[in-house]
Amino acid sequence: MISAVLEADRAVMATASGNHNANSRTPTGIPGLDKLLNGGLPKGRIILLTGGPGTGKTILSSQFLVNGILDYDENGVYVSLDENKQHVCEEMLDFGWDLSDLESNKKLALLEASPIRYLPSEIKVGKLTVGRREFSMATLIDMIKSSVSELGAKRIVVDPVTTLVFQYEGQAQQRTALVELIEALADTDATCIITTELRRPGFERNVDYEEYLAHGVILLQQLQVGKSLLRVIQIEKMRKTPVDNQPRPYRITETGIEVFPRESVL
Ligand SMILES: Nc1ncnc2c1ncn2[C@@H]1O[C@H](COP(=O)(O)OP(=O)(O)O)[C@@H](O)[C@H]1O
Ligand SMILES: [Mg+2]
Repeated sequence: MISAVLEADRAVMATASGNHNANSRTPTGIPGLDKLLNGGLPKGRIILLTGGPGTGKTILSSQFLVNGILDYDENGVYVSLDENKQHVCEEMLDFGWDLSDLESNKKLALLEASPIRYLPSEIKVGKLTVGRREFSMATLIDMIKSSVSELGAKRIVVDPVTTLVFQYEGQAQQRTALVELIEALADTDATCIITTELRRPGFERNVDYEEYLAHGVILLQQLQVGKSLLRVIQIEKMRKTPVDNQPRPYRITETGIEVFPRESVL
């Protein structure tokens, strides 16, 4: 009897330490990137992927989900907030990633903002009247949670979170909205990438609090080097993780993103 209790205790402790293992990684499977990340993204954490338009945020985050499904047997949820899902599917098919097929096979859930984008300014929920904003965030969180439990998803992408957050006025409200979303994502225990558009008016001012809330930040940039543009990736921050934080070149090709972890930029 006592030994059975001890056994159970040990099992609980093993699970607990497993959940808090600082070295647990979720490999992105993106060539070269896991080397910078010391094996992958920290498991169950929220990572901010930030960069200007056209830097490859949507490609990188789709590649993270597709690799998860095909190479690591981890289902995913993709929340597309700026583009409709047909559009994302068409674009990603260029890289050989058939998102609709993965969706039909219940490996991937594709959620889009259109159900919440065209809501009236006030909505009746039972006897209560709530504002559009409160409702849309709550609806989105519900949609994410039910997809995660339906698929047992281990990876989530929200791309980009900027639109959602900027529907709120004032920094305090924006922060609250983001905290709410991040807490809901953290509750799922999935490894999450949320993307933000960098060159959005007013965004720079708000970068700090977003970075503060996320577990890590990956920055994508295009630098002018002589007459050509160079794509550069940098792991700006990753809490409690030894990472390579030097800027490194990356390419976008017909197979997706490839990072060159040994090449320096300057
Ligand atoms: N087959 C391809 N080969 C090389 N570059 C590509 C290819 N397809 C798209 N791109 C590049 O990818 C970028 C768009 O990536 P995307 O992930 O949509 O950017 P973001 O989401 O950051 O706005 C564009 O700069 C485009 O030039
Ligand atoms: Mg995009």
